[in-house]
Amino acid sequence: MKPYGELTKDEARVELSAAREAFDALKAKQLKLNMARGKPGKAQLDLVSDILTVLTTPEQCVSDGIDARNYGELSGLPAAKKLFAEILGVKPEQCFIGGAASLTLMYDTIAKAYTHGLLHSPRPWCKEETVKWLCPSPGYDRHFKITESFGFELVTIAMTPEGPDMDAVEEAIRDPAVKGMWNVPKYSNPDGIVYSEAVIDRIAKMKPAAPDFLLMWDNAYCIHEFEGDYVPFPDILSLCAKYGNADMVFEYASTSKVTFPGAGISVMATSEANLAYMEKLMGIQMISYDKVNQLRHVLYLKDKANTLALMKKHAAVLGPKFRMVLDTLDREIAPRGIATWQRPTGGYFVSVNTEPGLAKRTLALCKEAGVTMTGAGATYPYGVDPNDSNIRIAPSLPPVEELRAAMEVFCLALRIAALEKRA
Ligand SMILES: Cc1ncc(COP(=O)(O)O)c(C=O)c1O
Repeated sequence: MKPYGELTKDEARVELSAAREAFDALKAKQLKLNMARGKPGKAQLDLVSDILTVLTTPEQCVSDGIDARNYGELSGLPAAKKLFAEILGVKPEQCFIGGAASLTLMYDTIAKAYTHGLLHSPRPWCKEETVKWLCPSPGYDRHFKITESFGFELVTIAMTPEGPDMDAVEEAIRDPAVKGMWNVPKYSNPDGIVYSEAVIDRIAKMKPAAPDFLLMWDNAYCIHEFEGDYVPFPDILSLCAKYGNADMVFEYASTSKVTFPGAGISVMATSEANLAYMEKLMGIQMISYDKVNQLRHVLYLKDKANTLALMKKHAAVLGPKFRMVLDTLDREIAPRGIATWQRPTGGYFVSVNTEPGLAKRTLALCKEAGVTMTGAGATYPYGVDPNDSNIRIAPSLPPVEELRAAMEVFCLALRIAALEKRA
C-alpha cells in the first residue's frame, strides 16, 4: 500500500474509483450511525443502574444529621464534598456540589465574573472594553461557546502533546484584557492529551497581568482511564496556592461519565476565599442543589477506591470500542499517510488531524452514508478550524459492531477526500 503522497495522478484516479465503488456499496446499506457526542452507551448506563435503588427509606435520607430532602446546605452535603475531595485530591472545604452538569457551574462562574466580577476583579467584566480568552485548540466546543456567548474575544492557543503551548500562553497573559483560559488537563477533549507536570507547573505559576485572571480547570476525565490503571494527577489548587495563585483557579468535575450524564452530580473546587465570595452570589439564586441525588451518589460510589473499581467496569465496555477505532485507523489510514492522531488511554474521544482541507469534505461524505459525526470546525473557537483538518470521533455510544461499520465509512470517506485532491 503506497502513501497517497507518492501516488501518480493516474494511480490516484484508479484508487479513487475503487474507493468510490466501495463507498457506494456502504451507502446502499442505508446505515444510521452516530459518533457525534461523548455519550455513554446503554451497557454503561445499565452497569450503574443499581444507583436507582440505593436510597429508598426516609431514614436513609439523613446524612451527617442533615435531612437531604429539605432546604439548606447551599454548598452541598458534607459527605458529597468528602467524596469529590478525595477523588480530586483537594480539601472538602474547597468543594461546592452542583447538579447534573458541571457545565452549569462553569457557565455560572463566568456569568458571575461578567455581571458581578470575581473576588479580585476591579470591576465586573461587562464593564471592560474588551475581554480576551485563551482557548487551547482543538478543544471542547461547549467551552468555546460559553465564552463566545459573552462576547469575549477567543484567542486560539495551539495544543502540543504535553498540553497548551505555554510560550504562547505566557506571552498572551501579559495583556490585561486576557481574563482567562480553558483547560481539560487530563484526557483532553478531543485529543486525549494529558498535560505534563512541567506544563501544569508553568500554568500554576503564571503571573497574568489581569488581577482577576480565571484559570478554568475542567477535570471532566479525572478518573476516566479506559486502558491501564488510574493515573494519579497533581492537585492544581495546592499547586496554584504554592505559587501565590490560590484564588486564580476553579476546578470542575462531575459524575456524568461515572453514573448518569442526565442525572449525576457535579463539583466546583476552589480556594475557600473564592467559595465564600461565590456562595454569597449563589445563595441569591438558589437554596441548594438536589441533595437527595448527592446522597444517592455518596451511598452508591462510597469512596475513591470504590469509584475507581467502577471505572474499571466502564473501561471494560469502552476499551474495545477505542481499540476498534485505533486499530481501524492504523490499518486503513496510517499506511496512506493522510492523517495523524494521538493514542489516548482515557477520556471519551479520538481526534484525527487530516491533511489540511479534508475535514469538511470527509464529514459531508460520512453524512451521505448515514454516519453522524461532530461538525467540522467544532473543536476550534468560533467553529472555524483554520486548516479544515480536525475531526473528533466519539466511539462511546454505538455498540462495537456498529462502530466497526461507522469506522469503515469514515476511513473510506477520508480516503476519498484525500484522493479527490490528487486525481
Ligand atoms: C471536557 C468536558 N467538560 C464537561 C463536559 C460536560 O460535563 P457535565 O455533564 O458535567 O456538564 C464534557 C462532556 O462531554 C466534556 O467533554
